[in-house]
Amino acid sequence: MRRKFVAGNWKMYKTPSEAETLAGDLKSAIGALNGAEMVVCPPYTALDRVNRVIQGSNIRLGAQDLHWEDQGAYTGKISHDMLKDVGVSHVIIGHSEQRTYFHETNETVNKKTVKALSSGLTPIVCVGETLDEREAGRMHDVVQSHVRGGYAGISKADALKTIIAYEPVWAIGTGKTATPEQAQEVHAFIRGLLKEMYDAEVAESLRILYGGSVKPDNAGELFSQPDIDGGLIGGAALKAPDFKAIVEAAS
Ligand code: PGA
Repeated sequence: MRRKFVAGNWKMYKTPSEAETLAGDLKSAIGALNGAEMVVCPPYTALDRVNRVIQGSNIRLGAQDLHWEDQGAYTGKISHDMLKDVGVSHVIIGHSEQRTYFHETNETVNKKTVKALSSGLTPIVCVGETLDEREAGRMHDVVQSHVRGGYAGISKADALKTIIAYEPVWAIGTGKTATPEQAQEVHAFIRGLLKEMYDAEVAESLRILYGGSVKPDNAGELFSQPDIDGGLIGGAALKAPDFKAIVEAAS
């Protein structure tokens, strides 16, 4: 049985004080629940304060990215040690906004995933096609290249520690959700791929999240699909009652 998993991606929203307030609201609303695993991923500047707030609750802390080097002259980047020092346990890697706007490639996703694993952070590896790619019939090729590229050279033991998020780019922040059937189809495809790349154990045990306009009113149906193990939530993660409803749908 795969335990459901819900992560909130706060993106570039919330100052440290606003984040502290939201974290406090979430702690009261869901902090004691223990159905689904829950992670919040605030901006870097809010990690420390959110970490202090969620102490003693079941909410864990995630970051939105990391660099693959340990340290160095990399202006604007953040390292695994910096993240772990403020209580981070999970990290989103290869989000489509990184791929689209900030030159993220399968190769950099792979380097970041390797680094996260070697430093004991749980990577949430994002994959997913754009609308053009879907309409051109290239959806499976793109998703396949994201998964194979992201996991290149990663051992079975390490792969078992990861989480995948399938996020069709056309559904992110657009209010257009993939139908549960569309999402399920791709999730099953990814599981088949994992079986080819590794084996049945990896295919069966990896959690594959869906992301893209998950809301309280569609979460239940999405999460009830056999291969959907929870969600990576953007917009709806910024409102405590909405995030709570989504976590409950997963529990
Ligand atoms: P959304 O974002 O829920 O606002 O569509 C999801 C994501 O980008 O992870």
